[in-house]
Amino acid sequence: MTPPELFYSEPVYRPPSEGKKSLLLTATIGCSFKCTYCYPYKDKKFAIRDVFDIKKDIETAKILYKNQIERIFLLDGNAFVMKPADLIEISEYGYKIHPNLQRISAYAHAKDINRKSDEDLRKIAQSGLNMVYVGIETGDDILLDRIKKRTNAEELAKAAQKCHRAGIVFSGTIILGLAGSNEQESRRHAIKTAELINHMNPLSPTTWYISALTLMIPPGTPIEQEVLSHKLHPMSSFQILEELRMIIENISDDLNGCIFRANHASNYLPLKGILSKDKQKLLTTIDQGIKNPQSLKPEYFRGL
Ligand SMILES: C[S@@+](CC[C@H](N)C(=O)[O-])C[C@H]1O[C@@H](n2cnc3c(N)ncnc32)[C@H](O)[C@@H]1O
Repeated sequence: MTPPELFYSEPVYRPPSEGKKSLLLTATIGCSFKCTYCYPYKDKKFAIRDVFDIKKDIETAKILYKNQIERIFLLDGNAFVMKPADLIEISEYGYKIHPNLQRISAYAHAKDINRKSDEDLRKIAQSGLNMVYVGIETGDDILLDRIKKRTNAEELAKAAQKCHRAGIVFSGTIILGLAGSNEQESRRHAIKTAELINHMNPLSPTTWYISALTLMIPPGTPIEQEVLSHKLHPMSSFQILEELRMIIENISDDLNGCIFRANHASNYLPLKGILSKDKQKLLTTIDQGIKNPQSLKPEYFRGL
């Protein structure tokens, strides 16, 4: 008898931290947003799967992996768009079938969070869907518009605050190099991004994450067209580090519980620290990278 199979719509993309222990569960296909830099979902027609089919996959995973599942990540690009009742049903069923499950997470666009009431978010968190990965990309509204992110800094700050209040761990990503090598635009991207991170500061002690990725230019995307037509000039590794330095420098010294990471495969220099404690250490490491370019990851080792 052939073993049962989980449903996947390739290509599958997930956060690096969901790589090892997580069951990747297809809740939605593609993404309901179309950002200019995004590769994995550009050719997928967006769809939300039936809760019945998602629950069948939760059962199939039990047959395949017994009681080994400790984390579930809901695919694809913004599974958090689903209705609160459906997310709660999937989450509760996941914990019922997988007794060792400790966390369920999903990608969420700021609008997917803001459309839900504080009460609904609290119920979602209580059901065990307690972490979201949100693409911030930049705090600069002009740049958010250019990359067709369909949100702005105010909405992004609101989404983070709603997550903090509801008990959903907020993990935001920013993209270095997104503004290109124009000095003035890179400076605006850096300063506005730092300002936005400051506005995301939770009122009470809370663990949350900010991760910096470095812009990749995926083939066949609108952002590749911008590069080919010389509208966007990619940054050098040196410029990327200067931009990263400016962001960290402008982040306030008293951020509550924010873990900063730039250890993604797309980055030139791996970094990790708690911002309120390690800011100076992070800046020193960046300065060393700026002074010793031979210590940076070579271009051909970078990847998404
Ligand atoms: C797969 S996307 C899903 C984001 C989610 N739909 C949202 O709107 O927040 C996850 C993240 O990967 C990063 N990413 C995607 N394409 C990228 C690229 N070409 N270069 C660098 N980072 C990229 C962005 O930070 C993006 O938010």
